[in-house]
Amino acid sequence: MALVNMQDLLGQAREDRYAIAALDVVSLDFVEAVVEAAEACRAPIIISLAESHFEHYDFELLMSAVVTAARRSTAPCAIHLDHGASLDSATRAIRFGCNGVMVDASHRPIAENLALTREIVALARGCGVAVEGELGYVPGVEGEDAERHPGDVVYTTPDEARTFVEETGVDCLAVSIGTIHGRMRGTPDLDLARLAEIADAVAVPLVIHGGTGLTDEQFRGLIERGVAKINYYTALADAAADAIRSAAAADPRAGYGRLTLAVRAAVRREAERVIRLFGSAGRADAVLTRCRPWREVEHLILFNADGDEASVRAMKDEGRRCLGVLPGVRQALTGEAVKPDARYRHCWLIRFSGEPVIAAYDHHPEHLAFADQRFRPVAGDRLKIDYELD
Ligand code: 13P
Repeated sequence: MALVNMQDLLGQAREDRYAIAALDVVSLDFVEAVVEAAEACRAPIIISLAESHFEHYDFELLMSAVVTAARRSTAPCAIHLDHGASLDSATRAIRFGCNGVMVDASHRPIAENLALTREIVALARGCGVAVEGELGYVPGVEGEDAERHPGDVVYTTPDEARTFVEETGVDCLAVSIGTIHGRMRGTPDLDLARLAEIADAVAVPLVIHGGTGLTDEQFRGLIERGVAKINYYTALADAAADAIRSAAAADPRAGYGRLTLAVRAAVRREAERVIRLFGSAGRADAVLTRCRPWREVEHLILFNADGDEASVRAMKDEGRRCLGVLPGVRQALTGEAVKPDARYRHCWLIRFSGEPVIAAYDHHPEHLAFADQRFRPVAGDRLKIDYELD
């Protein structure tokens, strides 16, 4: 179980002056490759899923693989929604198992960015989930040629960064100091003096987007000035595509299996290269002893209900529908005793993303309405427990 609290993970990296690779994954090959790379380097990583890639995979399905891979990994992992589009995206990401979220409003006027980011922080706090805000604008699209998505860099200013962090309460801040998402011609000019001023102005770890194409020297310069998370994708995608092209050239009649066989190793090689470059190799044991594990909480109610079978079933169906979508609820399940002489006939099993959800859920108006109007009137005989999974 090496899923760890993302706030702790980033705080640790900032304190010890290294950066965590936040690697976007787009398939099972990528998931396996980045976790294998982290394990081989004994490094913490952040497995990221970018909303702009959701056309390539089913978010919910890939998330179950990501959660399983992170849990069984021997290296510490966090799971992050990258460039989410809305509050709803953040709620879904938390439901599917992300313990960090970013909803990107950096292209909007600053007042809108502030307002939306504040809402995301309020939602995520109730779930114990870390929030990344972005201020300034990093143009381009990860995985594509930078020239296909032209746009000007809008640089982050230290004063705006200070106000933004204070007013939103974000856990980390993505800043714009000259990087561009995607495949670039040449190397960008980075404003490292500006980065140093921003790092002095804010007390949270800094994040850089658009890692592909930077030189080793530039990465070192970013990390020396307080960057604790570097987002990296295009070079991984290019390594995967090159592996497929080589397989096709070697055997023009190769089928899907043969064409994609070398993808995992190619992505893993590139992931390992940057993990070592970012200084995070060899940090796993320190992270595992100093960061809180990310543990889900289960909320279990055993109950007997008055009323006929159909009305009890209808009440349980309605509860699963309305409680299953509340923030921080990963799953809402109901069940019925297998044996006729069981002390309790029915159960609720609600899975929360973490401990803070217990209070948020208890006070949520939709939960209160369902509990007061539909559940409690028929389920007087009940037993309740919230427990953290070992
Ligand atoms: P690159 O694709 O340029 O590495 O950027 C990745 C990124 O910033 C994802 O958020």
